[in-house]
Amino acid sequence: MKLTDIHCHMLPHVDDGPGKVEEARELLEESYKQGVRRIIVTPHYRPEMFEPSMKRVCYSYNHLRGIAADIGIELRLGCECYRNEKIVRHMKNRNRPTMAGSKYVLIEFSPGDLFQVLRNYVYDMVTNGFKPIIAHVERYLCCAEMEKIQELKNMGACIQVNASAVLGDDGRMTKKYCAQLMKADLIDFIASDAHDTKTRKPNLGKCAAYVSRKMGKPYARRIFVTNPENILKKR
Ligand SMILES: [Fe+2]
Repeated sequence: MKLTDIHCHMLPHVDDGPGKVEEARELLEESYKQGVRRIIVTPHYRPEMFEPSMKRVCYSYNHLRGIAADIGIELRLGCECYRNEKIVRHMKNRNRPTMAGSKYVLIEFSPGDLFQVLRNYVYDMVTNGFKPIIAHVERYLCCAEMEKIQELKNMGACIQVNASAVLGDDGRMTKKYCAQLMKADLIDFIASDAHDTKTRKPNLGKCAAYVSRKMGKPYARRIFVTNPENILKKR
């Protein structure tokens, strides 16, 4: 399988991802070894914490795109937006990028946010023509019940979990939760959310092999190949 990673932090000097171009290259090389051939890089946008200028993001992206191409990876630009009231305006005005120029927007919440908060953002984004992808849903206390996830999906949201959570690196309870999500067929994307080559490293190939064994190849293909391709098709 040629994998596509839709959530990771590989652009140097823009957020808490790599601080040097050389580290970014190592992340790309490791991703390639894992079987990843396309990556949507998603630098953080979080007011008062991560607010890199778009000039800086684009400079970093354009530089890394050439390096990625030499390695054999097609790079695309996205953004991980922490929930904030300006998010729809930013996307509409193109102040921040959607996922590879599509209608998909990767949105992150706080672990303690009430379910109502998630629902309000999903409603706002969907009614404005965007397709929200809820980033690492396994972190949110209000999403512990499968019914809540189903409700968000019914409203038009997509669900993303991190590969580390599926593999059990974030604890047994989280692993069990992810297994429940997979069995209930509530996951749209699994991504690395890689930041570095030490602790939050590229692990998508390892996770795809695990999911293939556990859920079968057709399921793994849908999660790691077909669904990410749909983002790239929907400009
Ligand atoms: Fe992230």
